[in-house]
Amino acid sequence: MVKKAELHVHLEGTATPALVKKLAANNGAPLDPSTFKSDGEFSWTNFWDFLSCYDKAAAAIQSKEDYRIVTYDYLRRCAEEDVLYVETFSSPDHAASAGISYIDHLEGIAAGIDDARQEFGIEGRVIVTCVRHLGPEKALAVAQQFVSNPHPYVVGFGMGGDEAQFHPKDFAPAFNLAHNAGYATTNHAGEFGGPKSIRDTLNHLPVQRIGHGVRSIEDPKLVEELVRRKIPLELCPGSNISTGLFGSYEEHPFDRLKEAGCLVTLSSDDPPFFATSVGKEYDRVANAFGYDEENLRQITHNSLDAAFCDDILKEKLKAQV
Ligand code: ADE
Ligand code: ZN
Repeated sequence: MVKKAELHVHLEGTATPALVKKLAANNGAPLDPSTFKSDGEFSWTNFWDFLSCYDKAAAAIQSKEDYRIVTYDYLRRCAEEDVLYVETFSSPDHAASAGISYIDHLEGIAAGIDDARQEFGIEGRVIVTCVRHLGPEKALAVAQQFVSNPHPYVVGFGMGGDEAQFHPKDFAPAFNLAHNAGYATTNHAGEFGGPKSIRDTLNHLPVQRIGHGVRSIEDPKLVEELVRRKIPLELCPGSNISTGLFGSYEEHPFDRLKEAGCLVTLSSDDPPFFATSVGKEYDRVANAFGYDEENLRQITHNSLDAAFCDDILKEKLKAQV
């Protein structure tokens, strides 16, 4: 099987309904019954409802040990699909809502990475994220914690959440703090926002990659700029199809962006919410676009080139692809 790498996945969004229920049962966290459908899967109807369901599920993660379990469980599932490397987003705001400190959430994640490496050989790193709809002040507070508490596994700073809220320039203080401390950054843009959202991000934030960026396809000049500036796109087709942006993998612009010369990478975003996984994403784009193993290996190479980890680790991983 082709070796894989993932750059865009939200850690709290990796926990399966079964794991969320198990954690809540063990730690006594109240679980809103509206989190699940009658078939046991996560219950949400559109992107904004998904963000709310995500918050309800994330509330089951209540301790450093819970963060270790969620991380380990996700990396275990990835290793089964020949994933070599996962760069996961963590959200200190979600941790804080559950009463977990910044340091504890990070130490839990790091312990999960260590355990998974030891057992399965998979490698993981962390991108600390703020949540856009919580506003610029909260984002700056996350960035301050981020730069004040360096950790060898934390390789970048990012932002998720509702792209319709605020303007990228409102988050320049948070992103510049991270950037000036020497970190790479990425922002969700061009998922539910159009090309302007991507342009505004490129013009106001010091980003090395774009989270999603898929709606750049609506603006050929922007695609040209992304190609010229070699800005990798963290594409997540299954996520976009689930949230209704595109009707099918065949209709997704993944291949058109690739053919235009964009540095395309392939990720699962929030796998149990979108009934996907890294392995399924590789299989489904291969089927939709007729990719052979060489095409898929190129996607993994793109991801490793675009990863925020150090060059020694990148080269070590690339040698295994
Ligand atoms: N947080 C978790 N998943 C997200 C997504 N797909 N877009 C924006 N914010 C998110
Ligand atoms: Zn995302």
